[in-house]
Amino acid sequence: MLEAVAAALPEIFRAGEIACGLILGSGWGEALAPDAVLARVPYAELSGYGESTVVGHRGELLLLELRGKRVVCFSGRRHYYEGCSLEQVTYPVELMRCLGVQTLLITNAAGGLNPAFRPGDLMILTDHLNLSGVNPLRGAHRPEWGPRFPDMTQVYDPELSALLEAAGGRIHRGIYAFSVGPSYETPAEVRALRLLGADAVGMSTVPEAVLAKACGMRIAALSCITNPAAGLGQTPLQHQEVLAESAQARPRMARLVADFVAALPQR
Ligand code: HPA
Repeated sequence: MLEAVAAALPEIFRAGEIACGLILGSGWGEALAPDAVLARVPYAELSGYGESTVVGHRGELLLLELRGKRVVCFSGRRHYYEGCSLEQVTYPVELMRCLGVQTLLITNAAGGLNPAFRPGDLMILTDHLNLSGVNPLRGAHRPEWGPRFPDMTQVYDPELSALLEAAGGRIHRGIYAFSVGPSYETPAEVRALRLLGADAVGMSTVPEAVLAKACGMRIAALSCITNPAAGLGQTPLQHQEVLAESAQARPRMARLVADFVAALPQR
């Protein structure tokens, strides 16, 4: 459906194979230290996407050369809690599909549920819990998005996760629970999510991953644990603290993303 948007992007987006798509929190474009920025498109110029309404999420679509590979990067994302549609939330995935992207890395900030996790830790997603009641594939079946009832047995690709782990130093693996937000969870919800097996909770990633998996992409996802989830720490939760912690972790995550891209096998 976004074929026309993809076709209207600067020619260079279609001028060679794209090794990987990245969906990153804000500020990442700057943190990444690419070899070159090949193109830069503000979200305001992406028809149907809209500008982020969240503090700390400046948005632009970048085409980067990173460690010798061409990478498409959504720097800043839309969230369901902003009131936008799931089509907007998953717009980056659909646009990347139209550009022929087959490998996707998604990053996010999350609250830690696993007692072993500390703020600043990183977690590779092994699976997720979507308890939100929403699914980006709802609606008329679109054959270009795969079967009507797509398999979600292995959303996050083990080989890609191993590449992240090899690049990552101290890094956890775990299950991410999607919470719509924008309110943080209550302590009772946090206890329930822990009982259900989740290791971290956040307000993004899952809609994007579900669509990407349905479309046959290979996916890896990485959480930066920015705070103990509600009731597990000493203080109430604040967005400013989440931003500060993710800013601190950004250089390490940026290095990890670059090493991950460098290690991707040439196709
Ligand atoms: N809950 C949900 N989303 C989050 C959190 C949290 O504790 N921290 C960062 N994003």
